Amino acid sequence: MEAKGDSSFTSVTSLTKKFQQNIPQQYVLPPSQRPNPTLAGHISTSLPVIDLSMMDHPAHKSKLINQVHDACSQLGFFQVINHGIPTSVMQDALDSAEEFFDLPSDEKMCFALTDVHKPVRYGTSMNHGMDKVFYWRDFIKHYANPISEWIHLWPSNPPTYREKMGSYAKAVNALQKKLTEVVLESLGLNVNYLHDDFKEGSQVMAVNCYPSCPEPDLALGMPAHTDFGTLTILNQTDQGLEIMDHDKKWRPVPFIKGALIVQLGDQLEVISNGRYKSIPHRVILNMQRKRLSIASLHSMKLDTKVGPAPELVDEQHPAAYKEGSFGEFLDYISATSLTEYKYIDMLKNP
Ligand code: OGA
Ligand code: NI
Repeated sequence: MEAKGDSSFTSVTSLTKKFQQNIPQQYVLPPSQRPNPTLAGHISTSLPVIDLSMMDHPAHKSKLINQVHDACSQLGFFQVINHGIPTSVMQDALDSAEEFFDLPSDEKMCFALTDVHKPVRYGTSMNHGMDKVFYWRDFIKHYANPISEWIHLWPSNPPTYREKMGSYAKAVNALQKKLTEVVLESLGLNVNYLHDDFKEGSQVMAVNCYPSCPEPDLALGMPAHTDFGTLTILNQTDQGLEIMDHDKKWRPVPFIKGALIVQLGDQLEVISNGRYKSIPHRVILNMQRKRLSIASLHSMKLDTKVGPAPELVDEQHPAAYKEGSFGEFLDYISATSLTEYKYIDMLKNP
């Protein structure tokens, strides 16, 4: 019997346990939103990969800042290598995520809450209470900074979850601090710009599971969206992410073992007064393998209002955005389907 009600649903993981050749109708996207097969031959430029070992060499620092500036102003996206997080820490976190999604349904359902304001939340699709079409994704999201405030609320099963996900969360938060400084410098801002707001900023770990899909041409793991915060750092088991190029074409992000993906979110677009843009992205599916990802979503604290940096506002560049906060974003998405309206468009000044 299918359980109904606010905090109960059928996960994609349990759906795929029964062998099915076709996906349920609820997951079939209208033709205009389906992922068209990638025209790989048309992609001529490669996506930026930045070597963070330059960070430790004063002689290379300005080269690093230039590379970050180019990647952020052209795309709002880059991958990083030599970022200092051991591959084993990255892999352990992904393994503990996989074990969590493999648990029997009732072990996970105790985290199933429809209220997007909750600090730990297990769910499916994007916002399954509101989605017209469902996305082929199960997730658990949890707050992570400061970790001592939240870790006791995370799953205690699998038994190593807190330890493994916690080590990764701390490491990725430290990396985020360093990357944010470089991004601020690349905008010509002081590295200490809004220092305390960044330090005490929020970190939400979005742990995603995309089971293999029998009809990957008809569905998506996640629809096109931008992330609300400052930076997102993504760790993944496999290829599947696509980003929108400046010519509005979807481009698959190549999988590089050990690398992490960095994406700019809406709050950075606002701070930069539009010099940098948050990157639209989506997740495509495949028939062969389940894919796991951990997106560490960094932003200012829940109630911190973020507006364009005064240093980046002048007569030629009037403030292009209103102030907004993470909390206001959550209020917005609990009432609106993000697939129809973009939050960043609400912040744009006319
Ligand atoms: C997200 C996201 C991409 C992925 O969680 O916001 O965009 O590849 N994830 O899972
Ligand atoms: Ni995202």
